[in-house]
Amino acid sequence: MEFLSGKHILVGVCGGVSAYKSAELVRVLRRAGAQVRVVMTASAGEFIGARTLQALSGEPVWQRWSDDRSGMQHIELARWAERILIAPATADRLARLAQGRADDLLGAVCLACEAPLAVAPAMNQAMWRHPATQHNVSVLHERGVQVYGPDEGEQACGDVGPGRMQEPQVLAQALADSFQHGLLAGLRVVVTAGPTREALDPVRYLSNRSSGKMGYAVATAAREAGATVELVSGPVVLPAPAGVRLQRVESAQEMLEAVLPLARASDLFISVAAVADYRPATVAPAKIKRQAADRVLALEPAADILAAVAALPTAPFCVGFAAETGDLRQNAQKKRLSKGVAMVVANLVGPGLGFETEDNALLLVWEGGQLQLEKDTKYRLAVRLIAQIAARYRLSALNVVEPHAKHSTENTR
Ligand code: PMT
Repeated sequence: MEFLSGKHILVGVCGGVSAYKSAELVRVLRRAGAQVRVVMTASAGEFIGARTLQALSGEPVWQRWSDDRSGMQHIELARWAERILIAPATADRLARLAQGRADDLLGAVCLACEAPLAVAPAMNQAMWRHPATQHNVSVLHERGVQVYGPDEGEQACGDVGPGRMQEPQVLAQALADSFQHGLLAGLRVVVTAGPTREALDPVRYLSNRSSGKMGYAVATAAREAGATVELVSGPVVLPAPAGVRLQRVESAQEMLEAVLPLARASDLFISVAAVADYRPATVAPAKIKRQAADRVLALEPAADILAAVAALPTAPFCVGFAAETGDLRQNAQKKRLSKGVAMVVANLVGPGLGFETEDNALLLVWEGGQLQLEKDTKYRLAVRLIAQIAARYRLSALNVVEPHAKHSTENTR
């Protein structure tokens, strides 16, 4: 969200149940460092108080033409705004925008403003699906208006379907992205994260200690660098990173099936997940009973997702991770060659290292070079890592071979 710092955001609030979320939106934008001014429609006042928005934005709230003492307030607001986001945007507001009406202050500001306009629709699902609304949305699309959402789900009226306003965090992230010309802008990135679970019987499984923190940080950093990010995650307790499409899976086989179609259409594949190398050769249909004698568990190799993606005829640029207990550099180079990938990111694992922790330290190895990223939070390391991946990706796209081995240490603090 750093891209919002100091930016002038005009939030338009219309009359709908989700207007209560506008208060949180204003708060999130302010916390991200943006300057926020709010223009409310007359009916918005029936759903949320102007004083709330005034307190949260730290600015007067504009509601009616009568607030426009100079007679030119709509022009001043239009010139001030670097982005306008109307949230919630009702069906009526979309229709007014499509027609270019200026019979209220918000409409006039939108017409007078040359900065990008975004809308976050919120309405009953039937109203959203109605051909009239869909026509208005396509008119706005053609004019370059950004349409954020709507989300699907349960609605205030009891219906279920599309029409829920996107969450304030998601909207703020989308606005931040609109200011950003990131290192991965326009690229499609698939990231895996977390552990896999390999079933032994209906209640037991083989797994590992991966918390997903490293993978989710990488997905977040790739998103912030402007990529479209698909995150395929094993079972973890982390929320989906803002602006990232998340698919949850359990086993290595499920992860493979989710990843392959996405990877075929992607530019980069970053395999952070701690995927099982072996799975039980058979899954017992009923809970295995305790017995006095020793029990031997037969295992068979699980799908090697990274190797499978790297072997695709039009493989994306592949980055693997290597969890090692020693000799990072040698093991990472070996893994890079055996998996057939461009880069391997090695980290030491053990008590207090790698798995589950907040911090990590990474050794990046590629053909002819390596780079040490010293201990830092997983998010800050992910940001540095994405910058390195972007640089190597661009070189590989240009078919540039680096002339000599490079060994360096980057202190990421
Ligand atoms: O999730 P956290 O708690 O934050 O911990 C982060 C982490 C330690 C899990 C992460 O930083 C990490 O090291 N991930 C890779 C762990 C691992 O399984 O390494 P590996 O050496 O077994 O696998 C090498 C590579 O092949 C990895 O990119 C892995 O995703 C991939 N792989 C492995 C096995 C398999 N069956 N399929 C795969 O695709």
